[in-house]
Amino acid sequence: MSERRFDVVVFGATGFTGKLVAAYLTRKRAREPFTFALAGRSLEKLEQVRASLAAIDPGAAAIELLVADASDRASLEAVAAEARVVLTTVGPFALHGEPLVAACVAKGTDYVDITGEPEFVDRLIVGYDEAARAAGVRVVNCCGFDSIPHDLGVLFTLGALPKGARITIEGCVRSSGTYSGGTWQSAVNAFAHLGEARRRAREARRAATGGRSVRGVRPSLRWEPRLSSWLVPLPTIDPQVVLRSARALDDYGPEFRYGHYAQVKHLSTLVGGAVALAGIVAAAQVPLARRALERLRPSGAGPSEAERAKARFAVTFLARGDGVSLTTRVSGGDAGYDETAKMLSESALCLARDRERLPARAGVLTPAVAMGTQLIARLQAAGLRFETVDPG
Ligand SMILES: NC(=O)c1ccc[n+]([C@@H]2O[C@H](COP(=O)([O-])OP(=O)(O)OC[C@H]3O[C@@H](n4cnc5c(N)ncnc54)[C@H](OP(=O)(O)O)[C@@H]3O)[C@@H](O)[C@H]2O)c1
Repeated sequence: MSERRFDVVVFGATGFTGKLVAAYLTRKRAREPFTFALAGRSLEKLEQVRASLAAIDPGAAAIELLVADASDRASLEAVAAEARVVLTTVGPFALHGEPLVAACVAKGTDYVDITGEPEFVDRLIVGYDEAARAAGVRVVNCCGFDSIPHDLGVLFTLGALPKGARITIEGCVRSSGTYSGGTWQSAVNAFAHLGEARRRAREARRAATGGRSVRGVRPSLRWEPRLSSWLVPLPTIDPQVVLRSARALDDYGPEFRYGHYAQVKHLSTLVGGAVALAGIVAAAQVPLARRALERLRPSGAGPSEAERAKARFAVTFLARGDGVSLTTRVSGGDAGYDETAKMLSESALCLARDRERLPARAGVLTPAVAMGTQLIARLQAAGLRFETVDPG
């Protein structure tokens, strides 16, 4: 590891989120010493991204560029061999992600991504967990808005609850802002393969270990007076990530339950959203309609700086356990892109530079298991808020 030229390599640096990550790391270098390079499949596009970084730091002209294609295993291994950590935004991950994970495991390189695609993560758990453990490699998925605020918010909440208690936590998500072409393409691809996702989830559950009782809260719609909102069960990847952390770590106690919800003020919003989602899922099953959907928002496009500046998110955690109750919150700005670039960059730096303060773990891991409170500290220092709003 000590001979690696770069602490972090950003793969997908020419995409919408990748450019934000490149800008974040360029700014960050003024406050923390580390080395990084940009990687992608087009040298010309990489040069354009690097040139744009000169506005942040004239020294950015010296950032090295590495050419690699997600479909060319040798090029991915060459990138992995140069880095302590490869950070990737190349999605849809179900289509492009696996060869890079294989390359990182082969070269003994840690890996972080921002996938929110359950089928991809389940495939990695079944196919790479054992090899990554044997190689001492940390493969950490879901280091963006999916699922850092939820996974680390629960860990933060547990820190304020009595050890050894039976605990139920409900995460309630509020978020404004719009989405990029890459997110849209990944969602359409996931909707088109729901059957495959269910099969992978069964395989991954069989691979799960742990003797304590860990379960999801039975999903149901309800009015929550403490938040003056309806809570709508939210079947994203986040509850799966939280429950995987709970199975892996004793801190979650002997009996842990987690429920995950969207917070909405009016039921009419919910009905409109559900109808639109059902239409998109149905269209994604038909190849011709799916291609039309994909064209609606092309790769590379995304919300403008002004749109992102107005966006906010907050995840409120309602916790109770053995006679104690507590409300906590994780919040920040634009969840999907500005804050995701921050979360992903800080995760990569945490693995690359905080190694001696991290748990001794390897394999296909959640953020809480791989980096735990060390990553919370980094994100707080970077401006994300983790707070207790009602001590109960
Ligand atoms: N979990 C979260 O919270 C979160 C938030 C944001 C985004 N995401 C996910 O992150 C992914 C990226 O989103 P985005 O909006 O940034 O997408 P994007 O703008 O479409 O960028 C995709 C990137 O992948 C690269 N790429 C595609 N095929 C490649 C290949 N064969 N070899 C090498 N590079 C390849 C593209 O390179 P070119 O420029 O050369 O085309 C581009 O750099 C999506 O899967 C999205 O769902 C997740």
